Amino acid sequence: MTSTIPAAADADTLRFPAGFLWGAATAAYQIEGAVTEGGRTPSIWDTFSHTPGRVTGGDHGDVADDHYHRFREDVALMAELGLRSYRFSVSWSRITPQVTADGLGPVSAAGLGFYSELVDALLAVGITPSVTLYHWDLPQALEDAGGWPARATAERFGEYAAVVAGALGDRVPLFITLNEPWCSAYLGYASGVHAPGRTDDAAALAAVHHLNLAHGLAAAAIREAAPAAKVAVTLNLAWVRPETDSALDAEAARRVDGLQNRVFLDPILHGSYPADVLADTAGVSDWSVVRPGDLEIISAPLDVLGVNYYSPTVVRHWTRERPRETADGHGAGAATPWIACDDVEFPHQPGPKTDMGWSIDPRGMTELLLRVARERPGLELMVTENGAAFPDELQPDGRVRDPERVAYLRSHLAAVHAALEAGAPVIGYCVWSLLDNFEWAWGYAKRFGVVHVDYTTLVRTPKDSAWFYAGVARDNAVPNPSA
Ligand code: FCB
Repeated sequence: MTSTIPAAADADTLRFPAGFLWGAATAAYQIEGAVTEGGRTPSIWDTFSHTPGRVTGGDHGDVADDHYHRFREDVALMAELGLRSYRFSVSWSRITPQVTADGLGPVSAAGLGFYSELVDALLAVGITPSVTLYHWDLPQALEDAGGWPARATAERFGEYAAVVAGALGDRVPLFITLNEPWCSAYLGYASGVHAPGRTDDAAALAAVHHLNLAHGLAAAAIREAAPAAKVAVTLNLAWVRPETDSALDAEAARRVDGLQNRVFLDPILHGSYPADVLADTAGVSDWSVVRPGDLEIISAPLDVLGVNYYSPTVVRHWTRERPRETADGHGAGAATPWIACDDVEFPHQPGPKTDMGWSIDPRGMTELLLRVARERPGLELMVTENGAAFPDELQPDGRVRDPERVAYLRSHLAAVHAALEAGAPVIGYCVWSLLDNFEWAWGYAKRFGVVHVDYTTLVRTPKDSAWFYAGVARDNAVPNPSA
């Protein structure tokens, strides 16, 4: 592979703090394939993707990027790009393939062995692993027993966290309990555009609480099994902006902020659910799933908050005079993920968009990092995902030219830098994603990788953005986008 890492111009570069963790992120079901190997049993995403009509093109993760067999090649690629950290997720169905609501069942040596070898391969080339314990791929048996709306799922998750932290905690310095519980709860159980595809608002709110509880139980389990490791959770916080300064648009923004941000931030950081969200949703749930003691578990100390940011969220009051606009970036299900938001709409925005139709506005990155920095001073922050899909093509000369992704990364890295300058304690950044991969309900139709994957040959080709990012990692600095 010929390295074409661009040199940083000395003037006008944005320098990052020494030791900043430049990394890439992936998730198990999106890249691994090998869905029946090592004793792995189905997850909700195996079932969902094999259900006709659920995923674009009928795509599924049976092979995906075949990372399960090619992980050494992928680690070598990251080393060549000079990455310092790698965030990956563990497939629960590989670790305890016989889990039921009543118990974890036997731990799979093959399952743990795969991730243990991956960790060793990373450490051998100086890449720090960050392990996400849950990136949406619930074992199907637990869904059959009620899924996240059932408390037993959270309890089993705590036990599973102890197993993984016990096996990897001597080498992994950071465990992220959950990835984006907003998506698991609302896209999985309210709008149904993600697995398991249910459309039941009360179930979705029960899932919200049990995901929060699962985080708390896992945090405690990690502390005990791996006392040296840091504990994190990754949230997809929304930068919610009312379209106008009218009181009605402000009310729409309050509701959306409550359901997406505060219903996770408040219990995790402050040990309580926001009173306005409980009131807004009273017609759907009495929240009796919250038991005495749960909030103490959920608000256990946190070392790092993972922030995923892609796109802004603009809302306005829906007057019902025109068909409702639903440009919230979360797919067009028949049902909405926005519970108790009957008067809210998400207007289409002018301006540049990615291939997902997501508006590009890096200001949200700065705003969200500063918001959480203000809300919990001293809590370390990590951008655990940020990136963009574009319809990249491998050119006959073997290059993938993706100037739009380079521009996206550059502007969002500048936004992270602005947050650092304003005092937000950001310790690292993971580009989403290392590889083109299975983009959930969109299948392989959306390419987020800085590395192109040919899905026929599975050949990996770093895009121009990979070399841009390699230069950033090498120089610990970003060429100033406005220069
Ligand atoms: C996030 C997910 C990640 C990927 C990106 C594009 O919501 O965590 O797996 O799909 O979006």
